[in-house]
Amino acid sequence: MKKSMAVLATLLLMAACAYAKNEISIQTKQTQLVLQVKDDGRLYQTYLGERIEGVSDLSVFDMPRLRRSHTLSRGFETYPVLGTEDFFEQALEIQHADGNPTSVLKYVSHEQLAREGYTETIIRLRDEVYPLSVTLHYAAYPDYDVIRQWSEIQHDEKGKVYLGRYYSSMLYFEEDSYFLTEFASNHSKEMQMLSQQLLFGKKIIDSRLGTRAAMFAQPFFEVGLGGPVREEEGTVLMGTLGWTGNFRFTFEIDNNGALRILSGINPDASRYLLARGNVFRTPDFYFTLSNRGLGEGSRRFQRWMLRHQLHMGSADRMTLLNNWENTHFDFNEQSLGALCGEAKSLGVDLFLLDDGWFGNKYPRSNDKAGLGDWEPTREKLPGGVPALVRAANEQGVEFGIWIEPEMVNPKSELAEKHPDWLLRLPERDTYYQRNQLVLDLTNPEVQDFVFGIVDHLMQENPRLKFFKWDANSPITNAYSTFEKDRQGNLFVDYVNGLYSVLQRIQQKYPQLYMMMCSGGGGRSDFEGLRYFTEFWLSDNTDPVERLFIQWGYSQFMPSKAMCAHVTNWNRQASVKFRLDVAFSCKLGFDISLKDMAASDLKYCQQAIAEYNRLKPVIFSPDLYRLVSPYDTPHCALMRVTEDRGHALLFAYDTHPRYGEAIVPTRLRGLDPQSRYRVREICLMEGQKSNLACHGKVYSGDYLMKAGLMVLGRGKLTSHIIELTKE
Ligand code: DGJ
Repeated sequence: MKKSMAVLATLLLMAACAYAKNEISIQTKQTQLVLQVKDDGRLYQTYLGERIEGVSDLSVFDMPRLRRSHTLSRGFETYPVLGTEDFFEQALEIQHADGNPTSVLKYVSHEQLAREGYTETIIRLRDEVYPLSVTLHYAAYPDYDVIRQWSEIQHDEKGKVYLGRYYSSMLYFEEDSYFLTEFASNHSKEMQMLSQQLLFGKKIIDSRLGTRAAMFAQPFFEVGLGGPVREEEGTVLMGTLGWTGNFRFTFEIDNNGALRILSGINPDASRYLLARGNVFRTPDFYFTLSNRGLGEGSRRFQRWMLRHQLHMGSADRMTLLNNWENTHFDFNEQSLGALCGEAKSLGVDLFLLDDGWFGNKYPRSNDKAGLGDWEPTREKLPGGVPALVRAANEQGVEFGIWIEPEMVNPKSELAEKHPDWLLRLPERDTYYQRNQLVLDLTNPEVQDFVFGIVDHLMQENPRLKFFKWDANSPITNAYSTFEKDRQGNLFVDYVNGLYSVLQRIQQKYPQLYMMMCSGGGGRSDFEGLRYFTEFWLSDNTDPVERLFIQWGYSQFMPSKAMCAHVTNWNRQASVKFRLDVAFSCKLGFDISLKDMAASDLKYCQQAIAEYNRLKPVIFSPDLYRLVSPYDTPHCALMRVTEDRGHALLFAYDTHPRYGEAIVPTRLRGLDPQSRYRVREICLMEGQKSNLACHGKVYSGDYLMKAGLMVLGRGKLTSHIIELTKE
């Protein structure tokens, strides 16, 4: 018995050594992904998990797979294609020019290159029968524990080659149980967390809305491996696709209980005709695998976003006053001048003019007409945009402007002049969302037009500092005159057309602040934020609802990118409560100051000064979510600077229950050895803090173990507490 075990072990070791030369290890400080070329020449995933130090022979990663010998012949192919023996969903499906729907990808070569801040692994695969090549890319950011992954597909066939499916990534896990958290959405109800256990079969999260892609489902997910997703403990995979369009995440548990996660563009309605020699580059899929819960994963993504992805991630952000909720379409040059004055007296940096400033033949006095005609309405604004920028600057604030450049009202000069620029189905009724249609950004002429909107405004007004780029309709009638017989390419080419416009803008105006907006949070992806400095989370600015929406987005997004405005939504909540909720994100206002009580206005002015002072803490990626609004009628979170010397604690009571036991809130992320002075800030004039901890000094250890009584029984009550290392 002993002898046969020894023989088996030797055989296994020999097999392992044979594999070792064909292994590729992709790793960050905490995570390791090992791929291996097997004897059949194909590439397999043999390990994905916590980084294992001190292992010289990587082939030990193959060992767990031997437990299930009946799966060995199949294996976990890294990028399986339709046509091989794996009967579950494949990453790629290609129909060759002769109609053959199958491919087999074999390993050709790989290299690992040191890039700025990351290592890129490039693996070349090809079909030995058809002239088809696929290149897999993995960018591993060691210090951030984030891996970015994409693939490139290319063929050299004479006839028509169609891609039926083209995921960016496929990952495999073998655990006892899997729990998915997804983020359901709707207009004004974005980023609602839902969790469920994944059992046998498939679960899909996807979007087919095109432009307003994330209106119903957000492009983020979390999978708890071996247990539900928890904030501070357990293993969780967090993933997102950088694609401002249709996306799909497929979670499939196979016959052996292994989980396969496929992430990429939604291939539905997008059978892509790939021209010979062209490279089809999938969007980037980003993931982090945390074994210290969601909190750690969030902090990694936030740090990584600020350093590597978000446009102007290390620059400051401007506080602003927006006029949408206050005036809607009802304004003129004079009233806007007065609002710029209000922005100044409030103490914000910028005045942002929203929808309704353009259109002459069909003035934009409501949402039924004028969209597409980007000339200021002469009657309303005789001095055009230059007069407004001047008025703002003279009063000491910067000026920003709203555009919705991808869209058009049929009642507009643009639609009359260029009917072929509109996405619209022939021979079918046309469906509208908000009385508008989408322009055909697959067409380079339309791309020029859209670029020209920003370019013209910038040329005319070099002091314009900020654009709010809105997109209020999904693609409702998906047909492009330009794409002709390539209609399956429309959804993909549209997004690439949009990116090419955004690249041109960024190259020409690299310092321009831009807010990504899509009727609220209908666009919220990582790739979009390469071009935008921030995004509009939701039209819903009720502070209670915002606690949930911000809680959701904070799992992936840095506060610097999350626009939060103080408005009149939910007047039951005090201005202080509304402001205290917005204070934890990128602060703005969209409210009439004239209607505000003098004491509230004063509070806002003081809070803005505090906000400016505390930006290094507020924008720190080190976020700790302490008390969830999903579990309690309260919410608490804190941000800490990297050196752990300065922190802010936000505590909110929404609707405490009668007789509810209130427990201390235990802080996190502090230095246990240091002592911190605790001080409630942002108090109304004359208000005294009722917190027992106010003004006292505690050790970090005490604050994290014993905690502070900062939650209470008052409805819609809030506290902002500053902690400064002594
Ligand atoms: C939808 C946006 O979410 C709002 O903030 C506002 O800009 C309107 N569009 C304007 O039409």
